[in-house]
Amino acid sequence: MRAATNSIVTSSPRKLIFDCDPGVDDAVALLLAFSSPELDLLGVTTVAGNVSAALTARNACIVREIAGATGVPVIAGCTKPLVREPVEAGHFHGVSGLGSLPVFTPQRGAEIGHAVEFLIETLREAAPGEITLVVTGPMTNVAAALQSQPGIAVAIREIVVMGGARSEGGNITASAEYNIYADPHAAKVVVESGCPLVMFGLDVTHQVRATPARIAALRALGSSRALAAAQLLQFSTDLPENGPREQGAPLHDPCPIAWLLAPEAFEFRACHIDIETQSKLTLGHTAVEFRPQPGRVMHARWGVRADAARVFALLEERLR
Ligand code: RIB
Ligand code: CA
Repeated sequence: MRAATNSIVTSSPRKLIFDCDPGVDDAVALLLAFSSPELDLLGVTTVAGNVSAALTARNACIVREIAGATGVPVIAGCTKPLVREPVEAGHFHGVSGLGSLPVFTPQRGAEIGHAVEFLIETLREAAPGEITLVVTGPMTNVAAALQSQPGIAVAIREIVVMGGARSEGGNITASAEYNIYADPHAAKVVVESGCPLVMFGLDVTHQVRATPARIAALRALGSSRALAAAQLLQFSTDLPENGPREQGAPLHDPCPIAWLLAPEAFEFRACHIDIETQSKLTLGHTAVEFRPQPGRVMHARWGVRADAARVFALLEERLR
């Protein structure tokens, strides 16, 4: 098992591959990532999750065009989970996957090739600990790459994940959060990979709410990316499933990106994480253990606190 972290301290932009399933909150996370020079976005890989693999790839290209980031390749990936049957979350993201945002055929589409190959080739050519992976959807692409070429793990600085739940309980079943539930076997491959993990579960993302006032502040910025973010967040906040509108929808997927840009906005606890893949009742549960156990490495950091005001200030600063 590798050391708990092999983070390298550098002032140069952080090399990053962003794997996602846009999805309204993935889209806001992409807008933030595309607007942040601290991040050297080597590629956006997409996966089936909230909506189909074809739609998540198209949606990533649409968001890239809105952000004017056409230099970043989008590579489509796995169309279904490793083992279980697919489960989508269209009711939270709308039929298009981008809520009420007008969709269009993007000028630049996804690249030829597959996300798993892109991950393998990019990591194979990288130096040890050089590349950060951010994963905000089912972990199918990352797991498939690690299973195919386990040696690529040495190039991964850390895997920063939106997924899982501990104190908050689940959002797709009583005991599982959607990203893990949608591909629990992939999540198990990733947590057992030995790569340092930074996990943003519902315990921390539920502390970051897109209240009407925060959405209005983004809308008032007037830029195309801010208006798009406001429209995406409004769709989520208007959904009855996300609770009372004045409380605001939880801002899940932007949290990992916000942490890369403003680490002081989040607090973590060291832990060991395992994933339920056997039980039908608790499939996809994240067993987050804070207590040190003999012979078990505390390979992960679990988000426990977020400064929501700081996260939204960052969104306003970058999307204006
Ligand atoms: O549970 C929240 C997660 O599931 C987010 O990544 C959202 O996009 C959905 O995929
Ligand atoms: Ca997502």
